[in-house]
Amino acid sequence: MTTKELKEKYLTFFERRNHKLISGASLLPTNDPTVLFTTAGMHPLVPYLLGEKHPAGQRLVNIQKCIRTGDIDQVGDAWHLTFFEMLGNWSLGDYFKPEAITMSFDFLTQELGIPVEKLAVSCFEGEEKNNIPPDDESAKIWQSLGLAKGRIAFLGRSDNWWGPAGQTGPCGPDTEMFYWTGNEPVPENFDPANDHNWVEIWNDVFMQYNKTADGQYEELKQKNVDTGLGLERTAAVLSHLKSVYDIEPLSTIVLQITSLMSDLELAPEYVSDLNLADQAGLETEKTIRIIADHLRAATFILAEGIEPSNVEQGYVLRRLIRRAIRYGQKLGLVENFTPRIAEVVIDKMGGFYKELRTNRDFIISQLAKEEEKFNETLKKGLKELEKIGQNKKVSGSEAFKLFTTYGFPYEMTVELAKERGWEVAEKEYQEEFSKHREISRQGSSQKFKGGLADQSIETTSLHTAAHLLLAALRRVLGNHVYQKGSNITAERLRFDFSHPDKLTDEQKKRVEDLVNEQIAKDLPVTIEELTVAEAKKRGAMGVFEARYGEKVKVYSIGDSVPGGQVFSQEICGGPHATQTGELGHFKIQKEESSSSGVRRIKAILE
Ligand code: SER
Repeated sequence: MTTKELKEKYLTFFERRNHKLISGASLLPTNDPTVLFTTAGMHPLVPYLLGEKHPAGQRLVNIQKCIRTGDIDQVGDAWHLTFFEMLGNWSLGDYFKPEAITMSFDFLTQELGIPVEKLAVSCFEGEEKNNIPPDDESAKIWQSLGLAKGRIAFLGRSDNWWGPAGQTGPCGPDTEMFYWTGNEPVPENFDPANDHNWVEIWNDVFMQYNKTADGQYEELKQKNVDTGLGLERTAAVLSHLKSVYDIEPLSTIVLQITSLMSDLELAPEYVSDLNLADQAGLETEKTIRIIADHLRAATFILAEGIEPSNVEQGYVLRRLIRRAIRYGQKLGLVENFTPRIAEVVIDKMGGFYKELRTNRDFIISQLAKEEEKFNETLKKGLKELEKIGQNKKVSGSEAFKLFTTYGFPYEMTVELAKERGWEVAEKEYQEEFSKHREISRQGSSQKFKGGLADQSIETTSLHTAAHLLLAALRRVLGNHVYQKGSNITAERLRFDFSHPDKLTDEQKKRVEDLVNEQIAKDLPVTIEELTVAEAKKRGAMGVFEARYGEKVKVYSIGDSVPGGQVFSQEICGGPHATQTGELGHFKIQKEESSSSGVRRIKAILE
């Protein structure tokens, strides 16, 4: 079964069961400072999981592109990916466990024709200390559908619990579905940790609790279902393939890499590397997979307008590209190869993900630039290494400096030192590295968790202030101003927008004044549900990504009475303040460059 067929089957199945198809969201979560990327289909639906009414109703179905960096070390095995597509069906306070599990079961066994003997599931084992009982209800439902008792495992929090993202919020147990990929008879007892023939394909999350600030789990009023079926994995196992890299579109990307390799006239210094890799065929395969995965993910991140940099999303992007380049070098791909892989990603996936085609030139030129830059950096690092090596050894801090300053991976330092007969102080290097990792972990721990946004009054007010700010910027600077990203915490708002020049003091003052005037007028903030076409016609700002003609929420600030003056109108999930008078005094703290053609404002409400 192809990924395309699987998508179609899934959407049709759930549409027939009254689910409304909604568009997937951007890879960059809006208004969620806790994550860098959309890691699951739930991000764009957060306000609705918390009880806001969704314009499309209580039963939804979608395809969501996701980026997860948490498993990066496992990428290259058969099943892990940094970028992947997830199919999801959603109940926002509508059906719960019996219906969700039954639909999952029917889809797998009837629609996809998987024999029940090849399925196994895991359920939450419960947690006494938090007073959460085992999820016997789910297990019983699975049994009533025909799953043998031995095929139902009860596992703990790390396997069968989802959320919350921060300290508080909706969360709950989940039940995961596994498919038997082995040749030998299916074992009676399901043991996912020790038998890798079981591949997880689908996860039904039951958001039934709200974790409170004092660490209690209380039952949620609105119970939601969030399911996620891994597209590539499921299509691959159903086609009896050995990995996600054997199915489209990844298989074509892999093919492009191997064809670039066979075109090579290898520089002599790479031949030995390649021979080594060939001796261990598996190593070559893994290397190719990592390149395919990383460059596909990078292509999608670039399509969002992100450039490689040393911070936040740009840093993840840079890390993915540079890692791919390093692995490429192992295979002898030494010059401008990354754009040629991206071309294939764009050609294969740009039909559905139009943003790839629209941003083709940007993607290709950024990759070429980054590859050249990294190659330069590597050359400089090599010179530095020669200097360091005069006393025939490399200390831990020197190796670490090569890594941080020159982007020189440790394995490469070791490899090169070895060739020259020098020693590298590995233990000392590892110590330096752990220190650094601990520091950066502390700094970014919040960012890599998946999950729910902060819905506090402070955050909500700043969110409304961001709408006022965009409208004010467009009035003061002109209609070339568009939002290029935003990041809101309870303390401050950060807002990126397109504008070529630094703002003058006078411009900043006019923007601030304009925002504060709207706050002083205590304007109402109202919500309407419109089709994307209607919203566009009205001149609403926002992301017009809807593919299926569904309705979107439009927030207006100003007099919504006929003939009234609307100050701001944006497509947005919310939530927002109800009156601008709730906001307080708006103050711009800083205005600076974010990237070329993009400015950044940091502002607070006091
Ligand atoms: N949020 C859950 C997951 O990502 C189900 O969609 O697995």
